[in-house]
Amino acid sequence: AKAPILPYRVGHGFDLHRLAEGYKLIIGGIDIPHTKGCEAHSDGDVLLHTVTDAILGALCLPDIGQLFPDTDPKWKGARSDIFLKEAVRLMDEKGYVLGNLDCTIIAQKPKLSPHKENIRNNLSALLSADPSVVNIKAKTHEKVDSIGEERSIGCHAVVMLIRKDL
Ligand code: CDP
Ligand code: ZN
Repeated sequence: AKAPILPYRVGHGFDLHRLAEGYKLIIGGIDIPHTKGCEAHSDGDVLLHTVTDAILGALCLPDIGQLFPDTDPKWKGARSDIFLKEAVRLMDEKGYVLGNLDCTIIAQKPKLSPHKENIRNNLSALLSADPSVVNIKAKTHEKVDSIGEERSIGCHAVVMLIRKDL
């Protein structure tokens, strides 16, 4: 027999951007003072891209790069909250609300703990969710590989969505 379709959906997101001088570092919609920022076609917000993909993944929809191709001049320098808001709109349209979200940002530098509450509050607002269901963690990469050598920043996230009519 076929297994029942549960009223919960889990989604996973991952993203990584190269760090370079001459770019602003924007994480979760917050400007973080740093000597380098994320290279990207959009504003390079590695956290918002990761969360967008986690939500799209939970819904079995095409990923962020398919919905917003970086070959499209329309998205050049775009604020990444546009991408997240579209994922949230699709989540609502498909009949789901955010259960909870857990994110890990991997950056050798800068120290993100002073910005975590700002990021969490801004991200919760973008998700129309209570901050109590949104968690942000930060890790270094122990100075090894591209992240540890401060050449990139990575991010992982998992979400659980719950059917609205549950
Ligand atoms: O000690 P452990 O190896 O688990 O973690 P770490 O990568 O050495 O980071 C230690 C702590 O620093 C983390 O738990 C974060 O709270 C904080 N951290 C941060 O605020 N900003 C970063 N870019 C990296 C880590
Ligand atoms: Zn990205």
